[in-house]
Amino acid sequence: MKVLGIETSCDETAAAIVEDGCRVLSNVIHSQIDIHQIYGGVVPEVAARSHIEVMIPVVEEALSQAGLGWDEIDAISVTYAPGLVGSLLVGVLTARMLAILKQKPLYAVHHLEGHVYANFLVEPQPAFPMLALIVSGLHTQLVLFHDHGKFELLGVAQDDAAGEAFDKVARLLGLASPGGGRAVAEAALRGNPNRYHLPKARLQNPYDFSFSGLKTAVLRAVQAECGKGHDFPSFELAALLSESQRNDFAASFQRVAVETLVEKTKRAYQEYSPASVVIAGGVAANQELRRQLREALPHQIEYAPIELCTDNAAMIATLGYYVSQYRDPIDPFELDVVPTLSMTKTTWR
Ligand code: KG4
Ligand code: ZN
Repeated sequence: MKVLGIETSCDETAAAIVEDGCRVLSNVIHSQIDIHQIYGGVVPEVAARSHIEVMIPVVEEALSQAGLGWDEIDAISVTYAPGLVGSLLVGVLTARMLAILKQKPLYAVHHLEGHVYANFLVEPQPAFPMLALIVSGLHTQLVLFHDHGKFELLGVAQDDAAGEAFDKVARLLGLASPGGGRAVAEAALRGNPNRYHLPKARLQNPYDFSFSGLKTAVLRAVQAECGKGHDFPSFELAALLSESQRNDFAASFQRVAVETLVEKTKRAYQEYSPASVVIAGGVAANQELRRQLREALPHQIEYAPIELCTDNAAMIATLGYYVSQYRDPIDPFELDVVPTLSMTKTTWR
């Protein structure tokens, strides 16, 4: 079964074709990062307009790279939640139109669950029960999957997500934004992770996360280092930092953020003894997170390639394939977007 996946929840316009939920036949991603960099973050209206311009060419490119015509596509899978409303609408309206015109069954899937399913594109596929650490730009959660689509939430971010903290620290340090996580990780390679002492949050539920205090602690430490008070504009601090201070802040922040993620994942592993552990979402591309997790759980973890961790449509096609095994297709005239749907309970089994 060949599924065309469509993903437009944030600032990547993506289409991919995956066979039987495990073989990637094509994976096309058009990133808008250059467009948003001059604004220092993703501008929703600009993102939606850019999706409209490239959506159809991206779908055509996915078909062409796979060497397939429409007759050989068996179904369409699209991200309908969560994300920027204007961005989601472009993908969903495109998928609805194509499902009607080309008469294909349509499946609507959750973006975060899609991130988890990127791991089913890796051999050997993860076994159940499967512990998933989801770390994206806006979400951080630990989820225990008992089977496909059947899961329980162990813990969730109470304030900033891990990716959000990476992005905000990037902006504070004057590193690229959006795309801040990668910029912090690159600066951290040249920095001393033990130079600045930053706190770890303690929460009642040991599987919940809080990264807002860590982000503020970086701000306070930067202010102290620059000899400036709380009233000094934070966006002007970066210009006062030396290269080595910037790298050391990036490395010290990354060390604490990654240690927090790893400690909680390891604790959940010890408590629930899952058959596999996976990481999902953009922060799963972080090499230090991969290194520390491999050290903590040497035999339990396999990683999806970096290009399948950040936003892509192959993961959406893969999840669509699994949904199609359990659910009837959705009526294309009925499908709507849900910008704020969290991933707390199973919706398709
Ligand atoms: O999953 P994703 O591509 O989009 C969302 O669904 O949010 O995740 C984007 C997040 C951003 O916060 C970005 O800074 C972060 O993933 N990220 C990274 C790295 N690459 C992307 N964070 C840390 N290290 C990286 N190498
Ligand atoms: Zn994502």
